[in-house]
Amino acid sequence: MPTVTVCPTGEAIYLAPDETVLSGLYAAGFAYAIGCRRGGCGICKVDLVSGRVAYNRTIAETVLTADERAAGTCLTCRAVP
Ligand code: FES
Repeated sequence: MPTVTVCPTGEAIYLAPDETVLSGLYAAGFAYAIGCRRGGCGICKVDLVSGRVAYNRTIAETVLTADERAAGTCLTCRAVP
């Protein structure tokens, strides 16, 4: 089962297979600023401290650059752990 650990509290959030990070966080009661929910604005970015995510839909380079991906930035509305 995919798991997201929220920093700094360490709370574990369990996601369904293919569920996005954003969807899982919201289902668990976390709420933070989001925008389009479809990979178009970049507002939902968070830092990925460890682990990996996949993007099952295309993400525009203008929204999440290769440098940001390399630095661990995660676009939560599209990222699947
Ligand atoms: S909410 Fe717009 S890119 Fe994620």
